[in-house]
Amino acid sequence: MLTNLKEQPKDKILGLMAQYREDPRATKVDLGVGVYKNAEGITPVMRAVKAAERKLVAEQETKAYTGLAGDPAYSSAMCDLLLADSADRARIAAAATPGGTGAVRQAFELVKQMSPNARVFVSDPTWPNHVSILGYLGIEVVKYRYFDGETRGVNFDGMMEDLAGATADDVILLHGCCHNPTGANLNLTQWQSVIDLILAKGCLPMIDIAYQGFGDGLEEDAAPTRLVASQVPELLIAASCSKNFGIYRERTGLLIAMGADAANTPVVQGNLNHLNRQNFSFPPDHGARVVTTILTDPELKADWMAELEETRLGMLELRQKLADELQRLSGSDRFGFLAQHRGMFSLLGTTPDLVEKMRVDNAIYMVGDSRMNIAGLNENTIPMLAQAIIDAGV
Ligand code: LMR
Repeated sequence: MLTNLKEQPKDKILGLMAQYREDPRATKVDLGVGVYKNAEGITPVMRAVKAAERKLVAEQETKAYTGLAGDPAYSSAMCDLLLADSADRARIAAAATPGGTGAVRQAFELVKQMSPNARVFVSDPTWPNHVSILGYLGIEVVKYRYFDGETRGVNFDGMMEDLAGATADDVILLHGCCHNPTGANLNLTQWQSVIDLILAKGCLPMIDIAYQGFGDGLEEDAAPTRLVASQVPELLIAASCSKNFGIYRERTGLLIAMGADAANTPVVQGNLNHLNRQNFSFPPDHGARVVTTILTDPELKADWMAELEETRLGMLELRQKLADELQRLSGSDRFGFLAQHRGMFSLLGTTPDLVEKMRVDNAIYMVGDSRMNIAGLNENTIPMLAQAIIDAGV
């Protein structure tokens, strides 16, 4: 029977990770997978995470199962972080999931059950796994224009024109902050226009937020999600703790489903629990418990926020230095967008051929769509990348 299986397409981002590992060149630069790295190229365990883990080792008395939705204290702490007081908690159901991807997957499954004919509108481009999971579940994907190849900002008029095609059966998927892969984001006025469109169409918004704290700050990055939550009747949110807590391999995510009517919340919660049970039963707990420990301890929380802020500012500095170096080499401002983008990524906006050329000639690994992980850079590699970009003729 196993011989009936067909080879699956390789995930572009994970495939690149493997290719990078195999490259023997000492000068290779990894700008691929979305993992934060410090100037030494290390993905550190954050101080508050270490401290919370020590606390757990000392104090945890059992590793018996939690609830199907995970520990309610985790959902509550995460809702505080994401939503503050923007939404009526009585309307909110939430479940812990294996990472942000787990939350995305569970959300799409929920969509399929709620609206079997739903189409999911995704930005063009979006994180490739959005499209892959939707295809796997047999859900129709509609791409909306997002990235302006000229300005490397958001093509907002194109986006709104395309979203106008959504109906009350459909879902509009939005990146809460730090758009992946482009790094180009909506401002709050534009978010308000999207909310008005959603309200007019009666469709369901879904926010994927995986980089809170990596863009303009923890509160600033949550502002669009809170704006949406305070105005729409229904909302799905898929959140990840992988990046902002640096606990990638612990698989720590949360799915939030906000309904219009608090009386229906127990039914929604029951469906989230049921979905978890069918797919993996109980969600992983260690990462969630670490996050809860940090968020509910003022000292640990302050230290986590301080380290996250250092990380964010470090990435902004790298952006600025890269933009400055390119400005120096090209004698033009055409790479200024790199300093305007926010989050871990920037889409350079060049062709797969030139991306491949930089990989072959300069051992620079960026995703084929020209997405660069800015955190993969340091003082030494910025001039190398800038020169490679100029030499390639981008
Ligand atoms: C990325 O976009 O690189 C990350 O979200 C890692 C992944 O799972 O693709």
